[in-house]
Amino acid sequence: MAKKFQTLKGFYDVLPERQRLCRFFEEKVLSVLDQYHYQEIGLPLVEPTGLFVESVGSHTDIVEKEMYSWEDHLNKDKLTLRPEGTAGCVRAVVENSLTYNGPVKLFYRGAMFRHENVQKGRQRQFHQVGVEAFGFEKPESDAEQILLLARLWKSLGLKNITLELNSIGDPNDRVIYRKKLIEYFEDNREVLDDDALRRLHENPLRILDSKNKEMQSMLNSAPKLIDYLSNEAKQHFENLCSILKSHNLPFKINTRLVRGLDYYNRTVFEWVSSDLGSQGTIAGGGRYDFLVERIGGNPTSACGFAIGIERIILLLEDLNKNNNNILPDVYIVNLGEMARPFAFFIAEKLRNEELKVSLNIEGSSFKSQMKKADKSGAKVALIIGDQEADNKKIQVKLIRKDGIQESVDEQTLSLYIKDKINFEK
Ligand code: HAM
Repeated sequence: MAKKFQTLKGFYDVLPERQRLCRFFEEKVLSVLDQYHYQEIGLPLVEPTGLFVESVGSHTDIVEKEMYSWEDHLNKDKLTLRPEGTAGCVRAVVENSLTYNGPVKLFYRGAMFRHENVQKGRQRQFHQVGVEAFGFEKPESDAEQILLLARLWKSLGLKNITLELNSIGDPNDRVIYRKKLIEYFEDNREVLDDDALRRLHENPLRILDSKNKEMQSMLNSAPKLIDYLSNEAKQHFENLCSILKSHNLPFKINTRLVRGLDYYNRTVFEWVSSDLGSQGTIAGGGRYDFLVERIGGNPTSACGFAIGIERIILLLEDLNKNNNNILPDVYIVNLGEMARPFAFFIAEKLRNEELKVSLNIEGSSFKSQMKKADKSGAKVALIIGDQEADNKKIQVKLIRKDGIQESVDEQTLSLYIKDKINFEK
């Protein structure tokens, strides 16, 4: 017996219905990115492992336990399937001297890979649109990216989304804070779970992110990084907040928001949907003014974010949005040997006129084809039998309008259909 294969855990086929929504999302996001004048960059899926260790950080979940890494046995290179896009984008900016002539605004899209526990909204292969601005230090650039996202949610019709915002200061601010935080956690050692104990001296800030219920009240009373910011970092954050306020964009300051990647400084933010359960973050990002230099470039301020496409698609599926986009205008029912080539010819002709046409090629009974026409969602069904093929007149049935049926000449067919379905070119 033939062996059957299945997709790997956390890896999925995207079936046409869902792929349609991906396309809808893509059209909207590309149009908003154009409005803000971002340019697309294509990046490899595989990078040297060291790039992620240096940038994402060796004590993060991603690097410690989620990367798909291997050694290329042909040349001993250590390689990793990208778990995120910022590191590769920064590498590309440095390698190609993209900021040589001044600041640049880039975006990329595609698959990312993390060996995570799989659940709703959390996959091992997932897709992001990532957006990065290099050479911008002012809070206006953070604000612009946040407003870009607000504009995108609006154009997608998404609701129940909140913006969470925090500042984690600059590396020097964190030296003092880190000490205070470790002291506090040491004093509360008996409440810490195993994960927290493991992170205590390596990455204590990440403990603040814990969802463990038993630790919440202790974490809520922990010292807050926002109280340890330098004057410059504080000013940056206050300016950002006031720009957002002046644009009437509501946000919540979440002093425990630290994000799971080590490269951030100052601004960090997440957009969270309340309709997705525990994996509700649909986009996250922030400022990373020290990363370019860390991986070999000249000191360059930068900020960016990434959107998790699968989570957006889940929301769009709930909204059942965009149906109109995926429906054909016309469904062609055809019966008889002579009818088929004529129906095929008519289908191509109508497509030349920019109509969306679904042609029944396999053939079946009239009744079953009419059922398919109805199910397709088309507004108009064409009925073509041998007689219609012979005299070049086509039966046009307005299936959403009391089933009115008329015989229309081939020459005037497309105009007739466009008129009936209010086709706008
Ligand atoms: P991140 O928060 O790790 O940030 O990922 C961004 C978004 O990708 C998340 O908010 C989520 O929507 C989606 N995502 C992450 N992991 C998964 C998963 N396992 N399954 C499904 N969706 C997922 C970054 O990746 C940063 N590179 C963002 C950034 C760009 N920061 C600055 N520039």
